[in-house]
Amino acid sequence: MPKTFSLEEVAKHNSAESLWVVINNNVHDVTAFRLMHPGGAELLLQVAGRDATDDAERAHGNSRKAKSLMSKYCIGTLAVEQFHGQVQNGKVASLVFRILQLLVFRVFCRRVNL
Ligand code: HEM
Repeated sequence: MPKTFSLEEVAKHNSAESLWVVINNNVHDVTAFRLMHPGGAELLLQVAGRDATDDAERAHGNSRKAKSLMSKYCIGTLAVEQFHGQVQNGKVASLVFRILQLLVFRVFCRRVNL
């Protein structure tokens, strides 16, 4: 059964003794990995206990190595209701866009008597 964590739970793991980071709604325990991180342990400590999706994406680009290592250290996912804001905002934005598209299409159909 996959484990889910709240942001509050993740926030407790914000030190070198227990270092968790959230990336793309996945929770990673990088306590042991921090000393092997090519970007340095200090960077991981700076984002310990919180969502570091934007920082990690900016730093890693499309690095396959980073992606595959992330799955190795993944211990679960974030509780759905606390998913990264951008995901939810993105969904709402595309829904609004779709509704606008349909409205414009209806107006067009009426104009040309379809
Ligand atoms: C589970 C978490 C993470 C894993 C497994 C991971 C893994 C890696 C790997 C494998 C690389 C080398 C990439 C390559 O050479 O292709 C790397 C580089 C790097 N990472 Fe991470 N990383 C993690 C989180 C983060 C976070 C949260 C940040 C930023 C706060 C970060 C910043 C960096 C930076 C700055 C580099 C160096 C990029 C360079 O010099 O080209 N990483 N990481």
